[in-house]
Amino acid sequence: MNKQGKFKLSKKIQLLILVIVVSMIGINTWNKASNKTANVGSSTTIIEQVLPEIVVYKSATCTCCHKWVTHLENEGFTVQAHNREDMNNVKSSLGVIPGLASCHTAVIDGYLIEGHVPASDIKRLLTERPKNIVGLTAPGMPRFSPGMQAEGQPPRGYDVLTFDEDGNTHVFSQY
Ligand code: CU
Ligand code: CU
Repeated sequence: MNKQGKFKLSKKIQLLILVIVVSMIGINTWNKASNKTANVGSSTTIIEQVLPEIVVYKSATCTCCHKWVTHLENEGFTVQAHNREDMNNVKSSLGVIPGLASCHTAVIDGYLIEGHVPASDIKRLLTERPKNIVGLTAPGMPRFSPGMQAEGQPPRGYDVLTFDEDGNTHVFSQY
């Protein structure tokens, strides 16, 4: 009777596992399908994209940094902003290449975001997830960039670059 009981139990467990596996596959397929529909078209249609929190390091007196944080929040990001006196230390410890530096430095999902990078580029970065790069940078203080000009104005007149550990760059977006 014990053997029979065990057999029945294991059959039940097998059935349970099967049900779980099938439903997981189902959910997965459904997720993939809904991601596809959400990603069709320009980056502004990625409504379903769940944005990880972005941690921003900036100096307390930096007005353009504060405006850039507002820009990110307007674009749906949850921002954790830290005012730091030692921005040079923050940058070197996080791996910002000195020649590619700007005012604020941010970290999102393992990527560094340096300077006035538009929110749309960060969303694209999180979708495309390029390998072997440290992150994105908009070196210096581009005049017509989010945070540097009136909020909502399109960025223009500068490039957003990817950079790697050795400071090699590629153009990610041209404005
Ligand atoms: Cu700035
Ligand atoms: Cu800044």
